[in-house]
Amino acid sequence: MSQETLHNTHEHHQSLTIGLFGFGVVGEGLYKVLHQTPSLKATIKKVCIKNPGKARHAPPDLFTTDRDLLLNDPEINVIVEVIDDSVAAFQIVKTALLNGKHVVSASKKMIAENLPEILQLQQQTGRSFLCEAAACASIPVIRNLEEYYDNDLLHGIQAIVNGSTNYILTKMFEDKLDYREALLQAQQLGFAESNPKLDVEGYDAVNKWTFLLTHAYGIVTTPEQILFNGIQNVNGFDAQVGNEKGWAIRLVAQARKLDSGKVAAFVLPQFVKPDNHLAFVRHEYNGVVIESGFADKQFFYGKGAGSFPTASAVLSDISALRYDYKYEYKKLYHHKPGELSEDFYLRVYLSFEDVSVVPKEKFETIEEWHAREDRKYLAGLIHVYHLRESTWWKENGLSLVLLPDAIVESVELSKVKRKSLELAGLQLHHGFNGDR
Ligand code: HSE
Repeated sequence: MSQETLHNTHEHHQSLTIGLFGFGVVGEGLYKVLHQTPSLKATIKKVCIKNPGKARHAPPDLFTTDRDLLLNDPEINVIVEVIDDSVAAFQIVKTALLNGKHVVSASKKMIAENLPEILQLQQQTGRSFLCEAAACASIPVIRNLEEYYDNDLLHGIQAIVNGSTNYILTKMFEDKLDYREALLQAQQLGFAESNPKLDVEGYDAVNKWTFLLTHAYGIVTTPEQILFNGIQNVNGFDAQVGNEKGWAIRLVAQARKLDSGKVAAFVLPQFVKPDNHLAFVRHEYNGVVIESGFADKQFFYGKGAGSFPTASAVLSDISALRYDYKYEYKKLYHHKPGELSEDFYLRVYLSFEDVSVVPKEKFETIEEWHAREDRKYLAGLIHVYHLRESTWWKENGLSLVLLPDAIVESVELSKVKRKSLELAGLQLHHGFNGDR
Protein backbone atom coordinates (compact mmCIF):
# COMPACT_ATOMS: atom_id res chain seq x y z
CA MET A 1 0.00 0.00 0.00
CA SER A 2 1.42 3.42 -0.91
CA GLN A 3 1.86 6.21 1.63
CA GLU A 4 -0.96 8.14 0.01
CA THR A 5 -3.46 5.26 0.16
CA LEU A 6 -2.55 4.69 3.77
CA HIS A 7 -3.19 8.32 4.51
CA ASN A 8 -6.56 8.22 2.75
CA THR A 9 -7.58 5.11 4.63
CA HIS A 10 -6.93 6.92 7.90
CA GLU A 11 -8.96 9.89 6.72
CA HIS A 12 -11.82 7.58 5.89
CA HIS A 13 -12.13 6.31 9.47
CA GLN A 14 -15.18 7.78 11.09
CA SER A 15 -14.76 9.78 14.22
CA LEU A 16 -17.09 8.36 16.80
CA THR A 17 -19.18 10.32 19.24
CA ILE A 18 -20.79 8.03 21.74
CA GLY A 19 -23.97 8.25 23.76
CA LEU A 20 -23.66 5.70 26.55
CA PHE A 21 -26.64 4.13 28.31
CA GLY A 22 -25.72 2.62 31.68
CA PHE A 23 -22.83 3.22 34.06
CA GLY A 24 -22.76 -0.04 35.99
CA VAL A 25 -20.06 -2.72 35.91
CA VAL A 26 -19.74 -2.61 32.11
CA GLY A 27 -20.50 1.09 31.48
CA GLU A 28 -17.95 2.34 33.97
CA GLY A 29 -15.45 -0.23 32.70
CA LEU A 30 -15.89 1.12 29.19
CA TYR A 31 -15.46 4.70 30.39
CA LYS A 32 -12.12 3.81 31.97
CA VAL A 33 -10.96 1.64 29.08
CA LEU A 34 -11.75 4.38 26.53
CA HIS A 35 -9.64 6.82 28.53
CA GLN A 36 -6.74 4.42 28.23
CA THR A 37 -7.09 4.08 24.45
CA PRO A 38 -6.93 7.67 23.09
CA SER A 39 -5.79 6.40 19.68
CA LEU A 40 -9.32 5.15 19.06
CA LYS A 41 -10.64 8.72 18.69
CA ALA A 42 -13.97 7.79 20.22
CA THR A 43 -15.40 10.05 22.87
CA ILE A 44 -18.34 9.67 25.20
CA LYS A 45 -20.46 12.81 24.89
CA LYS A 46 -23.21 11.93 27.37
CA VAL A 47 -24.12 9.09 29.69
CA CYS A 48 -27.75 8.35 30.40
CA ILE A 49 -28.39 6.81 33.82
CA LYS A 50 -31.48 5.84 35.81
CA ASN A 51 -30.52 6.99 39.28
CA PRO A 52 -28.95 10.49 39.38
CA GLY A 53 -28.34 10.29 43.15
CA LYS A 54 -25.54 7.67 43.00
CA ALA A 55 -21.93 8.78 43.44
CA ARG A 56 -19.93 8.13 40.26
CA HIS A 57 -16.28 8.46 39.37
CA ALA A 58 -16.78 10.82 36.42
CA PRO A 59 -17.62 14.53 35.90
CA PRO A 60 -21.25 15.16 36.95
CA ASP A 61 -22.08 17.11 33.78
CA LEU A 62 -21.47 13.97 31.74
CA PHE A 63 -24.64 12.43 33.13
CA THR A 64 -28.30 12.88 32.32
CA THR A 65 -31.51 10.97 32.94
CA ASP A 66 -33.06 12.20 29.69
CA ARG A 67 -32.63 9.50 27.06
CA ASP A 68 -33.76 11.77 24.22
CA LEU A 69 -30.79 14.03 24.85
CA LEU A 70 -28.67 11.16 23.50
CA LEU A 71 -31.05 9.62 20.99
CA ASN A 72 -31.87 12.93 19.28
CA ASP A 73 -28.39 14.44 19.31
CA PRO A 74 -27.24 14.60 15.66
CA GLU A 75 -23.60 14.71 16.77
CA ILE A 76 -23.86 11.34 18.50
CA ASN A 77 -23.37 8.65 15.87
CA VAL A 78 -22.99 5.64 18.14
CA ILE A 79 -25.23 4.50 20.96
CA VAL A 80 -23.62 2.08 23.39
CA GLU A 81 -26.26 0.37 25.48
CA VAL A 82 -25.22 -1.63 28.55
CA ILE A 83 -28.27 -1.48 30.81
CA ASP A 84 -30.08 -4.19 32.72
CA ASP A 85 -33.71 -3.60 31.87
CA SER A 86 -34.33 -5.50 28.63
CA VAL A 87 -37.57 -3.69 27.78
CA ALA A 88 -36.01 -0.22 28.12
CA ALA A 89 -32.90 -1.48 26.31
CA PHE A 90 -34.89 -2.57 23.28
CA GLN A 91 -36.68 0.80 23.08
CA ILE A 92 -33.29 2.52 23.11
CA VAL A 93 -31.84 0.20 20.45
CA LYS A 94 -34.85 0.56 18.20
CA THR A 95 -34.99 4.35 18.41
CA ALA A 96 -31.25 4.67 17.95
CA LEU A 97 -31.22 2.53 14.78
CA LEU A 98 -34.26 4.34 13.38
CA ASN A 99 -32.52 7.66 14.13
CA GLY A 100 -29.60 6.54 11.96
CA LYS A 101 -27.16 5.69 14.73
CA HIS A 102 -25.01 2.59 15.03
CA VAL A 103 -25.57 0.53 18.16
CA VAL A 104 -23.25 -1.50 20.34
CA SER A 105 -25.04 -3.57 22.97
CA ALA A 106 -24.18 -6.00 25.73
CA SER A 107 -27.79 -6.86 26.66
CA LYS A 108 -28.11 -10.56 26.05
CA LYS A 109 -31.64 -10.82 27.45
CA MET A 110 -32.85 -7.97 25.27
CA ILE A 111 -31.27 -9.50 22.16
CA ALA A 112 -32.68 -12.97 22.84
CA GLU A 113 -36.16 -11.54 23.40
CA ASN A 114 -36.19 -9.36 20.27
CA LEU A 115 -34.03 -11.13 17.75
CA PRO A 116 -36.37 -11.09 14.71
CA GLU A 117 -37.11 -7.38 15.12
CA ILE A 118 -33.45 -6.50 15.65
CA LEU A 119 -32.58 -8.38 12.44
CA GLN A 120 -35.32 -6.53 10.61
CA LEU A 121 -34.23 -3.12 11.98
CA GLN A 122 -30.68 -3.71 10.79
CA GLN A 123 -31.91 -4.50 7.30
CA GLN A 124 -34.31 -1.57 7.24
CA THR A 125 -31.87 1.06 8.52
CA GLY A 126 -28.58 -0.27 7.15
CA ARG A 127 -26.98 0.64 10.48
CA SER A 128 -24.70 -1.66 12.44
CA PHE A 129 -25.85 -3.48 15.53
CA LEU A 130 -22.85 -5.12 17.19
CA CYS A 131 -22.99 -7.22 20.37
CA GLU A 132 -19.75 -9.12 20.87
CA ALA A 133 -19.83 -8.34 24.62
CA ALA A 134 -23.24 -10.00 24.99
CA ALA A 135 -21.83 -13.53 24.73
CA CYS A 136 -18.63 -14.85 26.32
CA ALA A 137 -17.53 -11.27 27.11
CA SER A 138 -13.87 -11.04 26.11
CA ILE A 139 -13.87 -13.97 23.64
CA PRO A 140 -14.55 -12.82 20.06
CA VAL A 141 -16.96 -15.67 19.47
CA ILE A 142 -19.59 -13.87 17.40
CA ARG A 143 -17.17 -12.45 14.89
CA ASN A 144 -15.49 -15.83 14.51
CA LEU A 145 -18.75 -17.69 13.97
CA GLU A 146 -19.89 -14.96 11.61
CA GLU A 147 -16.76 -14.64 9.50
CA TYR A 148 -14.74 -17.80 9.71
CA TYR A 149 -16.88 -20.92 9.84
CA ASP A 150 -18.62 -22.03 6.73
CA ASN A 151 -22.09 -23.42 7.30
CA ASP A 152 -21.43 -26.95 6.08
CA LEU A 153 -18.18 -27.33 7.93
CA LEU A 154 -19.43 -26.30 11.36
CA HIS A 155 -20.18 -29.70 12.87
CA GLY A 156 -20.68 -28.69 16.46
CA ILE A 157 -20.04 -26.23 19.28
CA GLN A 158 -19.71 -26.87 22.99
CA ALA A 159 -19.37 -23.82 25.17
CA ILE A 160 -19.35 -22.43 28.66
CA VAL A 161 -21.12 -19.10 28.20
CA ASN A 162 -21.93 -18.06 31.75
CA GLY A 163 -19.13 -16.93 34.02
CA SER A 164 -21.06 -16.81 37.30
CA THR A 165 -22.23 -20.43 37.22
CA ASN A 166 -18.77 -21.59 36.22
CA TYR A 167 -17.33 -19.58 39.09
CA ILE A 168 -19.84 -21.10 41.52
CA LEU A 169 -19.20 -24.66 40.30
CA THR A 170 -15.45 -24.19 40.66
CA LYS A 171 -15.73 -22.63 44.11
CA MET A 172 -18.20 -25.26 45.40
CA PHE A 173 -16.62 -28.41 44.07
CA GLU A 174 -12.93 -27.54 44.04
CA ASP A 175 -12.59 -25.06 46.89
CA LYS A 176 -15.45 -26.56 48.96
CA LEU A 177 -17.18 -23.23 49.47
CA ASP A 178 -20.88 -23.41 50.16
CA TYR A 179 -23.30 -22.28 47.49
CA ARG A 180 -24.33 -19.02 49.14
CA GLU A 181 -20.76 -17.90 49.71
CA ALA A 182 -19.77 -18.76 46.13
CA LEU A 183 -22.73 -16.82 44.73
CA LEU A 184 -21.99 -13.86 46.99
CA GLN A 185 -18.43 -13.73 45.66
CA ALA A 186 -19.69 -13.89 42.06
CA GLN A 187 -21.95 -10.94 42.86
CA GLN A 188 -19.26 -8.93 44.62
CA LEU A 189 -16.85 -9.45 41.73
CA GLY A 190 -19.45 -8.08 39.30
CA PHE A 191 -19.99 -11.33 37.40
CA ALA A 192 -23.58 -12.07 38.36
CA GLU A 193 -26.72 -10.50 36.92
CA SER A 194 -28.58 -8.14 39.28
CA ASN A 195 -31.09 -10.96 39.53
CA PRO A 196 -28.72 -13.93 39.99
CA LYS A 197 -31.55 -16.38 39.29
CA LEU A 198 -30.89 -15.54 35.63
CA ASP A 199 -27.40 -17.00 35.95
CA VAL A 200 -28.04 -19.88 38.31
CA GLU A 201 -31.15 -21.24 36.58
CA GLY A 202 -29.63 -21.07 33.11
CA TYR A 203 -31.63 -18.16 31.63
CA ASP A 204 -28.56 -16.06 30.89
CA ALA A 205 -26.83 -18.96 29.15
CA VAL A 206 -29.83 -19.86 27.02
CA ASN A 207 -30.32 -16.20 26.09
CA LYS A 208 -26.75 -16.08 24.80
CA TRP A 209 -27.16 -19.42 23.06
CA THR A 210 -30.23 -18.13 21.21
CA PHE A 211 -28.32 -15.54 19.21
CA LEU A 212 -25.08 -17.49 19.00
CA LEU A 213 -27.16 -20.07 17.09
CA THR A 214 -28.08 -17.33 14.62
CA HIS A 215 -24.46 -16.46 13.98
CA ALA A 216 -23.40 -20.13 13.89
CA TYR A 217 -26.22 -21.72 11.90
CA GLY A 218 -28.63 -19.00 10.79
CA ILE A 219 -31.22 -20.30 13.25
CA VAL A 220 -33.63 -17.61 14.44
CA THR A 221 -35.32 -18.90 17.56
CA THR A 222 -36.39 -17.97 21.08
CA PRO A 223 -35.11 -19.14 24.47
CA GLU A 224 -38.42 -21.01 24.97
CA GLN A 225 -37.61 -23.27 22.03
CA ILE A 226 -34.34 -24.43 23.52
CA LEU A 227 -34.01 -27.16 26.15
CA PHE A 228 -32.13 -25.71 29.11
CA ASN A 229 -31.41 -25.79 32.81
CA GLY A 230 -28.95 -24.11 35.15
CA ILE A 231 -26.97 -25.51 38.05
CA GLN A 232 -29.60 -25.05 40.76
CA ASN A 233 -30.15 -28.80 41.24
CA VAL A 234 -26.54 -29.92 41.00
CA ASN A 235 -25.37 -31.07 44.42
CA GLY A 236 -22.36 -32.45 46.27
CA PHE A 237 -23.49 -36.03 45.64
CA ASP A 238 -23.43 -35.47 41.85
CA ALA A 239 -20.00 -33.88 42.10
CA GLN A 240 -18.79 -36.85 44.16
CA VAL A 241 -20.09 -39.40 41.61
CA GLY A 242 -18.35 -37.43 38.85
CA ASN A 243 -15.20 -37.20 40.90
CA GLU A 244 -14.99 -40.97 41.20
CA LYS A 245 -14.90 -41.16 37.40
CA GLY A 246 -12.44 -38.28 37.13
CA TRP A 247 -15.10 -36.02 35.62
CA ALA A 248 -15.94 -32.37 36.41
CA ILE A 249 -19.36 -30.74 36.07
CA ARG A 250 -19.85 -27.76 33.77
CA LEU A 251 -22.90 -25.89 32.50
CA VAL A 252 -22.51 -26.56 28.79
CA ALA A 253 -24.30 -24.92 25.89
CA GLN A 254 -24.10 -27.07 22.82
CA ALA A 255 -25.17 -27.39 19.23
CA ARG A 256 -24.53 -30.25 16.84
CA LYS A 257 -25.44 -30.85 13.22
CA LEU A 258 -27.24 -34.19 13.00
CA ASP A 259 -27.29 -36.56 10.03
CA SER A 260 -30.75 -35.17 9.21
CA GLY A 261 -29.14 -31.78 8.58
CA LYS A 262 -31.01 -30.28 11.53
CA VAL A 263 -29.28 -28.95 14.64
CA ALA A 264 -29.57 -30.35 18.16
CA ALA A 265 -29.15 -27.45 20.60
CA PHE A 266 -29.48 -27.21 24.38
CA VAL A 267 -27.91 -25.82 27.58
CA LEU A 268 -27.54 -28.32 30.44
CA PRO A 269 -25.12 -29.29 33.19
CA GLN A 270 -22.80 -32.02 31.96
CA PHE A 271 -20.04 -34.28 33.21
CA VAL A 272 -16.87 -33.48 31.29
CA LYS A 273 -13.90 -35.78 31.05
CA PRO A 274 -10.41 -34.38 31.69
CA ASP A 275 -9.58 -34.51 27.96
CA ASN A 276 -12.50 -32.19 27.14
CA HIS A 277 -11.12 -28.66 26.80
CA LEU A 278 -14.04 -27.35 28.84
CA ALA A 279 -12.69 -29.17 31.90
CA PHE A 280 -9.85 -26.66 31.78
CA VAL A 281 -12.26 -23.71 32.07
CA ARG A 282 -12.57 -22.62 35.69
CA HIS A 283 -13.84 -19.63 37.68
CA GLU A 284 -15.41 -16.84 35.61
CA TYR A 285 -13.70 -17.94 32.42
CA ASN A 286 -15.70 -19.04 29.41
CA GLY A 287 -14.62 -21.46 26.73
CA VAL A 288 -15.82 -22.45 23.29
CA VAL A 289 -14.87 -25.69 21.54
CA ILE A 290 -15.66 -25.69 17.85
CA GLU A 291 -15.63 -28.83 15.76
CA SER A 292 -15.32 -28.15 12.11
CA GLY A 293 -14.56 -30.19 9.04
CA PHE A 294 -10.84 -30.75 8.40
CA ALA A 295 -9.78 -28.46 11.27
CA ASP A 296 -10.96 -30.93 13.93
CA LYS A 297 -11.31 -29.10 17.26
CA GLN A 298 -10.49 -25.50 18.10
CA PHE A 299 -10.69 -24.00 21.56
CA PHE A 300 -11.37 -20.36 22.43
CA TYR A 301 -10.78 -19.31 26.01
CA GLY A 302 -11.09 -16.08 27.94
CA LYS A 303 -12.83 -14.16 30.70
CA GLY A 304 -16.58 -14.40 30.29
CA ALA A 305 -17.70 -11.82 32.83
CA GLY A 306 -16.46 -8.78 34.72
CA SER A 307 -15.97 -5.12 34.07
CA PHE A 308 -12.85 -4.83 31.88
CA PRO A 309 -13.19 -8.14 29.97
CA THR A 310 -16.72 -7.16 28.93
CA ALA A 311 -15.69 -3.56 28.21
CA SER A 312 -12.89 -4.88 26.00
CA ALA A 313 -15.45 -6.51 23.70
CA VAL A 314 -17.54 -3.32 23.61
CA LEU A 315 -14.38 -1.41 22.77
CA SER A 316 -13.58 -3.79 19.94
CA ASP A 317 -17.08 -3.30 18.49
CA ILE A 318 -16.69 0.49 18.72
CA SER A 319 -13.36 0.19 16.98
CA ALA A 320 -14.92 -1.96 14.23
CA LEU A 321 -17.47 0.78 13.56
CA ARG A 322 -14.65 3.00 12.31
CA TYR A 323 -14.56 0.87 9.22
CA ASP A 324 -18.31 0.36 8.99
CA TYR A 325 -18.29 -3.22 10.16
CA LYS A 326 -21.67 -4.98 10.15
CA TYR A 327 -22.79 -8.53 10.81
CA GLU A 328 -23.89 -10.00 7.53
CA TYR A 329 -25.67 -12.99 9.09
CA LYS A 330 -24.30 -15.05 6.25
CA LYS A 331 -25.73 -18.36 7.44
CA LEU A 332 -29.18 -16.80 7.58
CA TYR A 333 -29.25 -14.73 4.41
CA HIS A 334 -26.77 -16.43 2.10
CA HIS A 335 -27.26 -20.11 2.99
CA LYS A 336 -30.22 -22.31 3.75
CA PRO A 337 -30.91 -21.30 7.38
CA GLY A 338 -30.49 -24.05 9.96
CA GLU A 339 -33.39 -25.68 11.76
CA LEU A 340 -33.58 -26.97 15.33
CA SER A 341 -34.10 -30.69 15.70
CA GLU A 342 -36.64 -32.11 18.15
CA ASP A 343 -35.64 -35.67 17.42
CA PHE A 344 -32.61 -37.02 19.20
CA TYR A 345 -31.73 -38.85 22.41
CA LEU A 346 -29.59 -37.79 25.34
CA ARG A 347 -27.50 -39.95 27.64
CA VAL A 348 -28.23 -38.66 31.11
CA TYR A 349 -27.39 -39.20 34.74
CA LEU A 350 -30.28 -38.55 37.13
CA SER A 351 -29.91 -38.45 40.91
CA PHE A 352 -32.77 -38.52 43.39
CA GLU A 353 -33.76 -39.37 46.94
CA ASP A 354 -37.09 -40.96 46.26
CA VAL A 355 -37.31 -43.45 43.39
CA SER A 356 -41.08 -43.04 43.15
CA VAL A 357 -40.64 -39.61 41.51
CA VAL A 358 -38.58 -41.08 38.63
CA PRO A 359 -40.76 -41.73 35.57
CA LYS A 360 -38.94 -44.86 34.40
CA GLU A 361 -41.26 -45.32 31.43
CA LYS A 362 -39.88 -42.16 29.80
CA PHE A 363 -36.44 -43.74 29.41
CA GLU A 364 -35.53 -45.64 26.29
CA THR A 365 -33.03 -47.68 28.26
CA ILE A 366 -31.76 -47.50 31.83
CA GLU A 367 -28.27 -48.88 31.95
CA GLU A 368 -27.33 -48.36 35.57
CA TRP A 369 -29.00 -48.02 38.98
CA HIS A 370 -27.03 -47.17 42.06
CA ALA A 371 -28.32 -46.72 45.58
CA ARG A 372 -26.23 -45.14 48.28
CA GLU A 373 -27.24 -44.16 51.74
CA ASP A 374 -27.95 -40.50 51.09
CA ARG A 375 -29.02 -40.55 47.46
CA LYS A 376 -29.51 -42.75 44.40
CA TYR A 377 -28.82 -42.35 40.73
CA LEU A 378 -29.40 -43.90 37.36
CA ALA A 379 -27.78 -43.58 33.94
CA GLY A 380 -29.98 -43.93 30.90
CA LEU A 381 -31.03 -42.83 27.46
CA ILE A 382 -34.00 -40.53 27.00
CA HIS A 383 -35.64 -38.89 24.01
CA VAL A 384 -35.37 -35.11 24.11
CA TYR A 385 -39.15 -34.96 23.75
CA HIS A 386 -39.55 -36.20 27.32
CA LEU A 387 -37.40 -33.36 28.61
CA ARG A 388 -39.16 -30.75 26.50
CA GLU A 389 -42.74 -31.85 27.29
CA SER A 390 -42.56 -30.72 30.93
CA THR A 391 -40.09 -29.80 33.64
CA TRP A 392 -40.50 -32.96 35.78
CA TRP A 393 -36.72 -33.48 35.65
CA LYS A 394 -36.03 -30.08 37.25
CA GLU A 395 -38.36 -30.75 40.17
CA ASN A 396 -39.01 -33.12 43.10
CA GLY A 397 -35.38 -33.19 44.20
CA LEU A 398 -34.20 -34.60 40.86
CA SER A 399 -30.86 -33.57 39.43
CA LEU A 400 -30.13 -34.27 35.77
CA VAL A 401 -26.59 -34.05 34.45
CA LEU A 402 -25.67 -35.07 30.90
CA LEU A 403 -23.13 -37.84 30.50
CA PRO A 404 -20.10 -37.17 28.31
CA ASP A 405 -20.84 -37.60 24.58
CA ALA A 406 -24.51 -37.15 25.38
CA ILE A 407 -26.11 -36.91 21.96
CA VAL A 408 -27.38 -40.12 20.39
CA GLU A 409 -29.02 -39.59 17.03
CA SER A 410 -30.99 -42.78 16.77
CA VAL A 411 -31.39 -45.70 19.08
CA GLU A 412 -31.66 -48.32 16.34
CA LEU A 413 -28.33 -47.23 15.00
CA SER A 414 -26.55 -47.53 18.33
CA LYS A 415 -28.12 -50.95 18.98
CA VAL A 416 -26.94 -52.16 15.61
CA LYS A 417 -23.54 -50.71 16.34
CA ARG A 418 -23.48 -52.37 19.72
CA LYS A 419 -24.42 -55.72 18.20
CA SER A 420 -21.75 -55.47 15.55
CA LEU A 421 -19.18 -54.54 18.15
CA GLU A 422 -20.25 -57.46 20.31
CA LEU A 423 -20.04 -59.78 17.32
CA ALA A 424 -16.59 -58.43 16.72
CA GLY A 425 -15.76 -59.82 20.14
CA LEU A 426 -15.50 -56.53 22.05
CA GLN A 427 -16.38 -56.51 25.72
CA LEU A 428 -18.84 -53.62 26.10
CA HIS A 429 -19.10 -51.82 29.38
CA HIS A 430 -22.60 -50.68 30.03
CA GLY A 431 -23.26 -47.01 30.53
CA PHE A 432 -21.11 -44.61 32.32
CA ASN A 433 -17.60 -45.23 31.11
CA GLY A 434 -17.86 -43.32 27.92
CA ASP A 435 -18.01 -44.18 24.28
CA ARG A 436 -20.38 -46.78 22.96
N1 HSE B 1 -23.84 -12.73 34.45
C1 HSE B 1 -23.09 -12.96 33.27
C2 HSE B 1 -22.17 -14.15 33.48
C3 HSE B 1 -22.30 -11.74 32.90
O1 HSE B 1 -21.96 -14.51 34.64
O2 HSE B 1 -21.70 -14.71 32.52
C4 HSE B 1 -21.65 -11.82 31.57
O3 HSE B 1 -22.57 -11.94 30.54
